[in-house]
Amino acid sequence: MAELAAGNGLAVHAPEEINHPLWLARIAGLEPDILFSFYYRSLLSEELLAIPKLGGYNLHGSLLPKYRGRCPVNWVLVNGEKETGVTLHRMTPRPDDGDIIGCRRVAIDAEETALSLHRKIAAAGKELLAELVPKLADGTAVATPQDESEASYYGGRTPADGEIEWSRPAAEVGNLVRAVTRPWPGAFSWLGDRRIFFWRVKAVDLPAEDVPGTIVNTSPLTIACGSGAVEVDFAESDEGLYSSAAQLVTELNMAVGMRLGARSTRRSPARKTQVLILGVNGFIGNHLSERLLASGRYEVYGMDLRCNTLTRLLANPDFHFTEGDISIQREWIEYHVRKCDIVLPLVAIATPIEYVRNPLRVFELDFEENLRVVRYCARYGKRLLFPSTSEVYGMCTDDEFDERSSNLVLGPIHKQRWIYSCSKQMLDRVIWAYGSGEGLPFTLFRPFNWIGPRLDSLESARIGSSRVITRFILNLVEGTPTRLVDGGTQKRCFTDVKDGVECLFRIIENRDDRCNAQIFNIGNPDNEYSMIELARILREKFDAHPRRSEFPPDAGLQYVEARAFYGRGYQDVQHRRPSITRARRLLGWEPQVSFEESVEQTLDYFLEDAVTAMREGR
Ligand code: UGA
Repeated sequence: MAELAAGNGLAVHAPEEINHPLWLARIAGLEPDILFSFYYRSLLSEELLAIPKLGGYNLHGSLLPKYRGRCPVNWVLVNGEKETGVTLHRMTPRPDDGDIIGCRRVAIDAEETALSLHRKIAAAGKELLAELVPKLADGTAVATPQDESEASYYGGRTPADGEIEWSRPAAEVGNLVRAVTRPWPGAFSWLGDRRIFFWRVKAVDLPAEDVPGTIVNTSPLTIACGSGAVEVDFAESDEGLYSSAAQLVTELNMAVGMRLGARSTRRSPARKTQVLILGVNGFIGNHLSERLLASGRYEVYGMDLRCNTLTRLLANPDFHFTEGDISIQREWIEYHVRKCDIVLPLVAIATPIEYVRNPLRVFELDFEENLRVVRYCARYGKRLLFPSTSEVYGMCTDDEFDERSSNLVLGPIHKQRWIYSCSKQMLDRVIWAYGSGEGLPFTLFRPFNWIGPRLDSLESARIGSSRVITRFILNLVEGTPTRLVDGGTQKRCFTDVKDGVECLFRIIENRDDRCNAQIFNIGNPDNEYSMIELARILREKFDAHPRRSEFPPDAGLQYVEARAFYGRGYQDVQHRRPSITRARRLLGWEPQVSFEESVEQTLDYFLEDAVTAMREGR
């Protein structure tokens, strides 16, 4: 249309929102006498319809009031009508409603397809307009109200509606084929897991002996229906080309007795879902693997530099561990992205001191290496579950951070702490773009200060590279002062790893696909505590612990400035509380574990670990 109009010196506009006041004003400025709508998708508002002096008129491809709504040309064929037409009517704000000015009838032949019918209707529409437009202009057109008792309405169609139900009579199957044959997406059925499109068939009589969908003859290719059968003239498999039925029979080795029908996937129902976890030895990776394996429905393929936290899982036949570095083992990763169903790239530096100490390494690993994995997922259409982070909200001032409405607030560039948040945010945005632009199936999740056994390690805490709770536990184990940065009044919502992993498990299960293209905060808004409170509760639990006597005396608290503790590039987050409405609503998830219980279990794990290390002389 645009080409035709441009060639004739006519301006073309394609507004996003035709009823917008800006467009109303522009259209009013043109002072139109009359307004026409031809297959226009949007409904026109009362204000817009009031602009043209002689009113607004729509040309609809059916004999109104029958077949109001979408795709009338296809629907009349699906329903085996013998006649349709084209109608010009006055527009109201309701679809295909309003007084009829005139119509032309169009006969539907037995051989008719949607394309040939479309052409006939277009020609009839041209004749109709040639007759009626002058009458509209000179005021002699006669308007007749639509007879509501005759009205019918049909909705839109999607390619999936082209699936053939072989249990229907042969004539109905034939009608569907001609209603959606080229250039529409086509009627189809499955032979195993191969889809076959049927471009032209004809209904033939056949005694009802075979199960519908059965191939009863291969030359000509004939398929049994609920009553009668269809003979196929032209068809195409989803990996092939438009071809004669004879060629298709040869290419697909079709034989009498084979049956077409619903898709049967190659994957047997017993096949477990394969999950690829990069960084499987990490805090989330190892807890999640345990949960997945316990369900019995998943196989885990994992890569990491080490497997020291995974010893309890290594013997499980559904757990496949490979030692390696994601920045080196690229082929392994690409191969496993192709092989697996779900991909979780969990490799990242996630301890704040490293954001300040090694910002480039954070960028290279957290952003660059993960981007590669994201691209593999996009290339192979694999479901990606990406660990975003609570840190993306930065210094957001909302009471509760909401995935869809909260602003992501970062400090200035010289505050290098934000390189982690910024890298993660950029990946969130890249993934979102791959999802909306190229159909990548994805879910982003944002852990909020998960704690529990195996969060970092006492060794990592020793070099400063750990999250706060592990660091505080190390202080107790070593008898060094617990250091409270900038007063210790900053708060976090500490979330037990069991709760977090349960939420993640539900995201992986993805019932009814409800997690697709979603972002989930995973945190416990009720467990909001300051660092001072954390230090206090840890002390209480430590003093009451049966192994207390094996550790040195308490060295107390020490207040330090952030700059002295982390260096100049640090900037803190004062509060960070998640809204978890989305996880509650879509996953039915609710955190269960109290802060005290969680702190106790984390402490217990590390104290046992420290005792074992002392015994082994580590
Ligand atoms: C963490 C990390 O960036 C990531 O692990 C993660 O993405 C995210 O938060 C999360 O788990 O939600 P943050 O909460 O600042 O960030 O990390 P911690 O190192 O656990 O520090 C918590 C608070 O304790 C900070 O305010 C820090 O200044 C303070 N702190 C830390 C102390 O007062 N003393 C210490 O010895 C260590």
